[in-house]
Amino acid sequence: MVFSQVLVEWYAANKRILPWRETVNPYYIWVSEVILQQTRVAQGIDYYLCFIRAFPTVFDLAAADIDRVLKVWQGLGYYTRARNMHVTAKEIVERHNGSFPRTYKELIKLKGVGDYTASAVAAFAFGEAVAAVDGNVYRIFARIFGVDTPIDTQKGKQELKAIADNMLDKEHPGVYNQAIMDFGGTVCMPRKPNCLSCPVMEICSAFRNRKVEQYPVKSKKIKQTERFFTYIIPQKGGQTYITKRVKNDIWKSLYEFPLIETDRQMEVDEIVETEEWQTLFEGKRVDVLYYSVPKKYMLSHQRIFVRFVVARISEESQLLKENFSAIELSKVHDYSTSRLIENFLAAEPVEKYFKKDD
Ligand code: ADE
Repeated sequence: MVFSQVLVEWYAANKRILPWRETVNPYYIWVSEVILQQTRVAQGIDYYLCFIRAFPTVFDLAAADIDRVLKVWQGLGYYTRARNMHVTAKEIVERHNGSFPRTYKELIKLKGVGDYTASAVAAFAFGEAVAAVDGNVYRIFARIFGVDTPIDTQKGKQELKAIADNMLDKEHPGVYNQAIMDFGGTVCMPRKPNCLSCPVMEICSAFRNRKVEQYPVKSKKIKQTERFFTYIIPQKGGQTYITKRVKNDIWKSLYEFPLIETDRQMEVDEIVETEEWQTLFEGKRVDVLYYSVPKKYMLSHQRIFVRFVVARISEESQLLKENFSAIELSKVHDYSTSRLIENFLAAEPVEKYFKKDD
């Protein structure tokens, strides 16, 4: 039994109808694959459709303002993806006359385009015989062949990549690569795989040895960092203050309220005594109108404990004047913000602290 043949037959009968499968336009395929790198298919569909509606061609994306790109991306996370796409779109327009490079070798030179995306675009748009290898593919072959080398090591990745390259259906690389994505997404899933409907269960080492849940082997647990954020929502009449995150950290280029990060959870009466608070408000009068209970917000490698404080200020300090933009609270939604801020504003009626004549 040839694995690729069985897989492609299975796909013909079970494939999901997905919008990026209706096209061979490399721009659309690239957009979809970047979105799908860290996003589930069900959520990815809407973002994909919105993205290509907002930026129908690589020229539109290249000409767009980065803030608008981030706004469309808002909620998807891993914002470096959107910033890299914007850089790459400009490069394709400026250096390639708006045409995507047609080979894996050229595609991988683009910013933010790694081995997986270059292979996916080369195979789906141009029919190049390359295997698109992502976490799904590592997991599938680790199970089928019972590979014990951890997949989060260089050696494990190399071993599995070599297997994946070998298994590729070189005659039908596009269909084969789509098939393996669907197989990983609907049968050979990370947890609770559907082994009983698996077309290759007889050849699967992990299934035969009743060890499916133990594969793929990983060497270490992802380290989780704990961080403690206090967001201050300054209020002066109807206005508040926001700024753009510029550091190389989570949410780079997104907008946020003044933030005080501490190395442990602090109560509000401690926060107002910190140097950061004093610097922010220069000792001017500030009335705390409201504060939320700290909530845990999980990112892939970070656990953030966040509290929001609505604080009425009497005068703008120099810091607020220089580093922040004064905007109406309701205008926050025109800016790209993290989902954490978006969720908080949706859940808590802070507008009531923003009466104009206050
Ligand atoms: N995950 C990554 N790429 C995919 C694709 N093209 N179809 C379905 N799931 C995917």
